[in-house]
Amino acid sequence: REAEYAHLAALLAPLGDLPVYLLPGNHDERAQLRRSFARHGYLQGGGEFVQYSVKVGPLRLIALDTMVPGESHGALCAARLQWLEDELAACRGEPVVIAMHHPPFRTLIGHMDKIGLLEGAGQLEAIVARHPNVERIICGHLHRAIDVRFGGTIASTCPAPGHQVALDLQPDAPSAWMLEPPALRVHAWDGQRLVSHLAASGIFEGPYPFHENGMLID
Ligand SMILES: [Fe+2]
Repeated sequence: REAEYAHLAALLAPLGDLPVYLLPGNHDERAQLRRSFARHGYLQGGGEFVQYSVKVGPLRLIALDTMVPGESHGALCAARLQWLEDELAACRGEPVVIAMHHPPFRTLIGHMDKIGLLEGAGQLEAIVARHPNVERIICGHLHRAIDVRFGGTIASTCPAPGHQVALDLQPDAPSAWMLEPPALRVHAWDGQRLVSHLAASGIFEGPYPFHENGMLID
């Protein structure tokens, strides 16, 4: 809704000139997202799906739109996958990060897998397997950190800044959330590979030095 996007814009405002790229998830509405962030040119492609490919430093960031309007689950239809194929063909040899809201793999959290990417995961894996320059696939939706091998690359989900989905791998686990500490992913490029950190979000004591005047402090 317009008011929710206005709230998000206010939360992002302190980032100033830092480049920010938004990606639709299952709670988004494409037309309103585009209207509310009209100055985000990469969102305004005009096609049915909010997908884009941008250069972020030495990396190519390709964002996929997995949303199914009005539904919690996600999908990658033939049109969205073909667009990805075309984009990947245009950037062979460049390090690529694919970002998408719904993870394309089973998480074993049963109630989340029921509203996971229900269409297109197998085709996506086949496409990625043909492009070894895909460094990572980064996803949301799960509100917790998960890493898997997928199509020869690493696919991961990111924790949430708010609540987390309860970690319960019983197939019939109840749908539940927890107030575990919020966290975020920090992906850093070292010139050759992507180095992915999991960072707690909050205000903590420290940092304290390990050494003082050349002496180890224990
Ligand atoms: Fe989601």
